[in-house]
Amino acid sequence: MQDPRWPTYTPRNMMLEAAVPPDDGGRGSVYITDAEGNVILDAMCGIGCLPLGHAHPGLADAVHQQMMRLTAAAGTLWTEPQQALARELVERTPIPDGRVFLGNTGTEVNEAAIKLALRATGRDVIIGFERAFHGRTLGSIALTANPKYREPYVSCLEEPEDRFARINVARATYGDLDSVEAVLSRYEGRVAAVFLEPIQGEAGIYPAERSFLEGLRQLCNRHGALLGADEIQCGAGRTGHFTAWSRIMGDDPAVAPDILWYAKALGGGFPIGACVARKSLADHMTPGSHGSTFGGNPVASAAAVATLRIMDEEDLMTSAGAQLETLRGIAAQNPHARVKDVRGLGSMIGIEIEGEGQTPAAPLGGILKGKNMLATVCSGRTVRWLFPYRVGETILREAWSRLCSALDELPGSV
Ligand SMILES: Cc1ncc(COP(=O)(O)O)c(C=O)c1O
Repeated sequence: MQDPRWPTYTPRNMMLEAAVPPDDGGRGSVYITDAEGNVILDAMCGIGCLPLGHAHPGLADAVHQQMMRLTAAAGTLWTEPQQALARELVERTPIPDGRVFLGNTGTEVNEAAIKLALRATGRDVIIGFERAFHGRTLGSIALTANPKYREPYVSCLEEPEDRFARINVARATYGDLDSVEAVLSRYEGRVAAVFLEPIQGEAGIYPAERSFLEGLRQLCNRHGALLGADEIQCGAGRTGHFTAWSRIMGDDPAVAPDILWYAKALGGGFPIGACVARKSLADHMTPGSHGSTFGGNPVASAAAVATLRIMDEEDLMTSAGAQLETLRGIAAQNPHARVKDVRGLGSMIGIEIEGEGQTPAAPLGGILKGKNMLATVCSGRTVRWLFPYRVGETILREAWSRLCSALDELPGSV
């Protein structure tokens, strides 16, 4: 088929059709069909956007109701869903006296966090981490480690000037407090913020240690820098707590980040992002300093409010929080020689594959597709599962069995 879009995505040559309603009715689905009638087990889920699964009737109903009531409104106006969502997020985010900016995508709320940090501190350097991924718009890619995403737009400090336009991002090593302290000291008085993913996603699913987050908080306090948590992939309930930060650190406001932002799962599949910051910081964002035509529009906000409500009603964070341990149990009973590690937190799961070269797992996306399963491969080594939160042992067993069968066909397997 001729795809009339820009060729920005590696084609999978698969046309999706519709969700397959689950047998127990009334809840979201983990299975979808393609145009050829195959029934596909979806561990990709729009890359982590479907905490309720596909086509949850409660979510569809909330979106429909809101469409019939009020579809769009400028950000200068209040709407009931936008206010309800902002209140929910203030309540659920471990930042005391929080205030919310509503956007449409992950990278957009990452941009909001960058602008807030620079504006509130008057400083010009943001520390990002090796292997980090924060999005694809210009400010967000500055924080993304891999130069493939940054060239020729954005350089980091000390990279050749002639290849890039300049935004001041300095890079430190994830998990290594000394490397962060060295950068803070080197650019003393210039570092506006340290931004991190509490679980690095695109890098291959690496959760931060509690001691690392605690140490970052102390270092930021000492050097007058803000601490920002990109929870676009790991937040909104995926780890079993509403934020991965709380899962790792608890809810103590004394060690909370200053800024924390969400997207992906927040809207249940509907595009929305949100950035939460302490009021004293948010107050720097005066009228006109930032905005978005669609940000927090009534339909997306209603979708997010309904997603949060359904997550509570179906106790989905509890099931999300149990997924990794359930899978580890299954993997221990049925080990595969090519699996090097099963890691993550809750339903943010990475399965690292053993093998020669830099990208031993790269063919797995295609092999799994042949087995009617969708999953992404991160950084060439790690299969990533971002299942709906209610997925439990039965589906995890099925997914593990399909993965093991795909691994048998992976080059290098005996
Ligand atoms: C941690 C993190 N930050 C930012 C983004 C960018 O989000 P979006 O694609 O919605 O712009 C992603 C997307 O994968 C992400 O995982």
